Amino acid sequence: MGASQETAVLPITIAPSLLSCDFAHLADEVARVEAAGGDWHHVDVMDGHFVPNLTLGPPVVRRIRAVARKPLDVHLMIEEPRKYARAFAEAGAHVLTFHAEVCAGAAEMRATIQCFREAGVHAVGVALNPDTPVERVADVLDEVELVLVMSVFPGFGGQSFMSEVLPKTAWLRSQGFAGHVEMDGGLNRETLPLCAAAGANVLVAGSALFGAPDMAAEIERFRQAARAARGARA
Ligand code: DX5
Ligand code: ZN
Repeated sequence: MGASQETAVLPITIAPSLLSCDFAHLADEVARVEAAGGDWHHVDVMDGHFVPNLTLGPPVVRRIRAVARKPLDVHLMIEEPRKYARAFAEAGAHVLTFHAEVCAGAAEMRATIQCFREAGVHAVGVALNPDTPVERVADVLDEVELVLVMSVFPGFGGQSFMSEVLPKTAWLRSQGFAGHVEMDGGLNRETLPLCAAAGANVLVAGSALFGAPDMAAEIERFRQAARAARGARA
């Protein structure tokens, strides 16, 4: 079965990354994303260890949850996801994604997935850095709701899209993975159709959306471009 058939049931989901928002006006920015038609709020959590940057933790996620109506898609770029799973779940993360690189192997990934479930996470995701082979997650594909294929090295917004990761997305669909495939990093009008054509249905964008003169128009453009790229079956 081809990627377009596999993904036909999963709607194109545009997830603006709050990393690029004005944090001095967080509630207004959350409202702006929702008014503009964003589907999920992508929330980037960085610990200064797994990536060379620091962002926010559970208390801020909790406040975002309090003002948001759309699901929170929390991307943990942290060394010890199990330690914080319950705090993020209780703060209101709907999707909670950890990086495969922080686990020694499939057994540790399974333990992390189990820990997230016990913490009450609705949807568990596993993320791959650009230089991590996609086969690393082969053994846990039937245990996660989402795989995040990073198209930049995580840590900062505004970097350039790495097209060499696209075969990973196509590989996931070729394996029959029917969950969400998310791509994150450097997505814009030009690169987002490549992601959708490869089989991604969750499309994260920070600088391209928060930097657009009209976020609503840009989200609509993204959605149309993604649908067209995967065969207009969404
Ligand atoms: C990068 C983050 C991304 C980032 C994307 O480490 O995981 O979510 O916000 O930003 P853009 O779309 O500007 O590349
Ligand atoms: Zn992210």
